[in-house]
Amino acid sequence: MTEVQTPWPQGTECVARYNFKGTSEHDLPFNKGDLLSIIVVTKDPNWYKAKNSAGREGTIPANYVQKREGVKSGGKLSLMPWFHGKITRNQAEQLLCPPETGLFLVRESTNFPGDYTLCVSCDGKVEHYRIIYHNGKLSIDEEEYFENLMQLVEHYTKDADGLCTRLLKPKVEEGTVAAQDEFSKGGWSMNRNELKLQQVIGKGEFGDVMVGDYRGTKVAVKCIKNDATAQAFIAEASVMTQLRHDNLVQLLGVIVEENGSLYIVTEYMAKGCLVDYLRSRGRTVLGADALLNFTLDVSEAMAYLETNNFVHRDLAARNVLVSEDNIAKVSDFGLTKEASSTQDTAKLPVKWTSPEALREKKFSTKSDVWSFGVLLWEIYSFGRVPYPRIPLKEVVPRVEKGYVMDCPDGCPEVVYNIMKMCWNLDPGARPTFQMLKERLQHISKGMGKNL
Ligand SMILES: *[C@@H]1O[C@H](CO)[C@@H](O)[C@H](O)[C@H]1NC(C)=O
Ligand SMILES: *[C@@H]1O[C@H](CO)[C@@H](O)[C@H](O)[C@H]1NC(C)=O
Repeated sequence: MTEVQTPWPQGTECVARYNFKGTSEHDLPFNKGDLLSIIVVTKDPNWYKAKNSAGREGTIPANYVQKREGVKSGGKLSLMPWFHGKITRNQAEQLLCPPETGLFLVRESTNFPGDYTLCVSCDGKVEHYRIIYHNGKLSIDEEEYFENLMQLVEHYTKDADGLCTRLLKPKVEEGTVAAQDEFSKGGWSMNRNELKLQQVIGKGEFGDVMVGDYRGTKVAVKCIKNDATAQAFIAEASVMTQLRHDNLVQLLGVIVEENGSLYIVTEYMAKGCLVDYLRSRGRTVLGADALLNFTLDVSEAMAYLETNNFVHRDLAARNVLVSEDNIAKVSDFGLTKEASSTQDTAKLPVKWTSPEALREKKFSTKSDVWSFGVLLWEIYSFGRVPYPRIPLKEVVPRVEKGYVMDCPDGCPEVVYNIMKMCWNLDPGARPTFQMLKERLQHISKGMGKNL
């Protein structure tokens, strides 16, 4: 029952697997699904001192909780691991060998482009069912229609409904892993029944961002309805499971539904995105220390990403959020990749992206440093759009020739000098985030003296 293991270090996040009532006043009672943070192992290695999200401390049994771990996919995380793309009828039959009734996969139809085929092993034979795509819906029998493949598979998993058998076991494509399983293994799966969605606070192309309540905690939820879009967000969520810093918006958990709906649950940031915050408050409300605090917050987050070899790729004031107590946190890890990644990306915002990243898709911490310079400029100009009065198509040619934006009104020279260091055309000559952080801290201390 008890596993021998090295003790978890302080700060380890755990999620409760069972309810624990506790027997003494020193115990910390919890319910299945609660999040707990380890403080220290007790003399008995099966018990830890821990803290719950309300800050209460006490002793907990180690085997009642699961340690949360970053979801790193050696293979590709997929919502549809049974989808094999364009393979032939013969290849499908080979994949479903040795025969096992209920083993299935879905492939793109070779005979009818745009349609799919559901291949199911049945009493030693493979049946191929054509899935017709008609008016944006999918159907096998033209009686029952589905929005997407996940819903179709969910239906025939519950009921054979005319097929030779119910779908029992997915034939997983080589190199992929089921995203649902990986999130739950890492301790990141949340229970849909405990999430109350309350109000839409933002709309994206992918779906809505809502404010909600999860077990008494106010949360923000990205609701992604469409299975194809959800697949893209799976990558973002898996990056977020690997990151933990006070100045990064924290992932709380993920809900993956059988029908392909995905919910990404994060901490709620009461004051919205930094660019709107700066614009709405402006010069009269935000003093020098408020602005400098934001730059410090972001530099700390970015120094953390730098240390851990993550490249954000989309750093901008619109992707920084502000908490109730005015702490800035970096968000939107949709394009974030490990530094070693070579995969190129969709269209990037020209005004924030470094010349070498635009030109050669060379993304690195140094291209994030360039964007950080632009973000500093946004902060000190209270949310203006960068490169004012320059037509978009002229921005890149001028920047490539060495053009840099002017110092925003009222911005201290020392801060403007930092921006210019970030905008060095030679990526190697730009400072590290560690250096930027230290320099900003230094300015902050100096300012304190002047007050
Ligand atoms: C998926 O199922 C849930 C209920 O389990 C429902 O609320 C949601 O709307 C469904 N999503 C789609 C895309 O049909
Ligand atoms: C800036 O940060 C310091 C240190 O955290 C804090 O004491 C101060 O209140 C902050 N200032 C503003 C305006 O938020």
